[in-house]
Amino acid sequence: MKQVRIGIAGMGNMGKFHADYLLNGKVERCALTAVSDAIPANLERYKNLKTFDDSGKMVRSGEIDAILIATPHFLHTTIGIEALKNNIHVLVEKPISVHKADCERLIAAHNNPKLVFSAMFQSRTESKYRRIKKLIDDGELGKLTRVNWIVTDWYRTEAYYASGGWRATWKGEGGGVLLNQCPHNLDLLQWFCGRPARVRGFCQLGRYHDIEVEDNVTAYMEFPNGATGVFVTSTGESPGTNRLEIAGERGKLVLEQSKLTFIRNEVSMLEFSKTSSAGFARPDTWNVEIPFDGSGGQHPDITRNFVNAILDGEPLIAPASEGVWSVELANAALYSSLINEVVDLPLDAAAYEKKLNQLIAESKFEKKVVQTAGEDFTKSFSR
Ligand SMILES: NC(=O)c1ccc[n+]([C@@H]2O[C@H](COP(=O)([O-])OP(=O)(O)OC[C@H]3O[C@@H](n4cnc5c(N)ncnc54)[C@H](O)[C@@H]3O)[C@@H](O)[C@H]2O)c1
Repeated sequence: MKQVRIGIAGMGNMGKFHADYLLNGKVERCALTAVSDAIPANLERYKNLKTFDDSGKMVRSGEIDAILIATPHFLHTTIGIEALKNNIHVLVEKPISVHKADCERLIAAHNNPKLVFSAMFQSRTESKYRRIKKLIDDGELGKLTRVNWIVTDWYRTEAYYASGGWRATWKGEGGGVLLNQCPHNLDLLQWFCGRPARVRGFCQLGRYHDIEVEDNVTAYMEFPNGATGVFVTSTGESPGTNRLEIAGERGKLVLEQSKLTFIRNEVSMLEFSKTSSAGFARPDTWNVEIPFDGSGGQHPDITRNFVNAILDGEPLIAPASEGVWSVELANAALYSSLINEVVDLPLDAAAYEKKLNQLIAESKFEKKVVQTAGEDFTKSFSR
């Protein structure tokens, strides 16, 4: 194969965005050949391509080698499984599925090692996050002791929530801010610090908006080595904060307002505490501002890596199998809040699925859909 023929499932905001850069040649050695959407009007602008009212027909059409799934969340699992079973390479939007059990079903369907299965976690390519990852992986912070991420700059209005029937409902989206806005943050948090061992979530459902799912969250985490974490997020707070602090025995990283600083302990704070004879002494520090450019963080970066993986075997930046991490952590924080208990990880996937199904069955919420016209949705990820 010299060129990958890509089909997109779901031609809403994100599907259109992916189609635009593919049609503009932003990713080499691939061609957008087909699109599918359940609403025929969403296909009209793609008359030069093969169009399908059903993604299954597109998957079986012989017109595509790979599929990019940009539908509402629950469909990621069903469309992804169908594609993998039909020997189609898959690039799935975040979150890879709504809940852990569905993630496991989807990942289990990837049983042909020749098929590439990737997830759209474009933040992993952002220069500032790559710097943090490298500093931690190189051992510059030593043993990690604490992570705090306040991400309350995901502000959304009632008009946003009213703009799609599936949004912010248990049945349509399967969750709120943790599942829609935060998968990138939750993915990065674990990419940097590893996976927590236990979680206690406090999730407020519809605190700021007329929705039934969570829009304000504080989650406490403990990691296997005893490190602690707090993750705070909201779609109701403005101006909001985006501050990431990661502390380790060798110092503290802070990322805020496009500035990454590393206050480096000259010696391990843990060793210093054990060996110093002075009660109020502390390790000497050096202040280092870590430079980074504005590169990366673009969706075509992940799509290009997906195409290179298919054609050349390039290692994936975001294998879809790792997409279960952010879903599991989102599920665990919500589950903990709903049952009012600390939840140990790995999360009991069946218990959470049962709880979510109960929320769906008992929902009395009636969604009022009001379409917004002409708004630039790319503002949603260019904060
Ligand atoms: N990576 C990112 O930065 C990013 C940003 C925004 C959204 N997303 C993700 O992209 C996905 C889509 O979000 P969106 O904002 O574009 O939603 P959207 O509602 O604008 O679009 C979804 C589209 O899917 C179509 N659809 C529904 N059922 C279908 C089916 N069975 N087959 C084919 N199409 C079907 C709908 O008609 C709609 O056009 C979500 O998973 C979302 O989380 C990712």
